[in-house]
Amino acid sequence: MLPANANPQKHIIVCCNTREQGDCCGKIGGEELYLKLKEYIKTNGLVGKVWVTRARCLGFCNPAGATVVIYPDNKWFSHVTLEDFEEIKEMIIS
Ligand code: FES
Repeated sequence: MLPANANPQKHIIVCCNTREQGDCCGKIGGEELYLKLKEYIKTNGLVGKVWVTRARCLGFCNPAGATVVIYPDNKWFSHVTLEDFEEIKEMIIS
């Protein structure tokens, strides 16, 4: 094992899990939110400072929105929709 040379200021993990039946973030906005966050980071000089990663199920599946985690803050959110983008953006730059 070797240490990875990575030190982002923030790491946002967005559940984009999909499954054929049942609630899954990928079908209720997770993928769109992930792509919007990636675009925001690219267009605002945050590449390398803020990482956004797709995840499989994070264990908080619900029919109303995706699960998002922000590190190093260790903030977990469920029921996240695109309407929450501005609030997440504020947490990225804070
Ligand atoms: S599918 Fe996203 S938390 Fe389970």
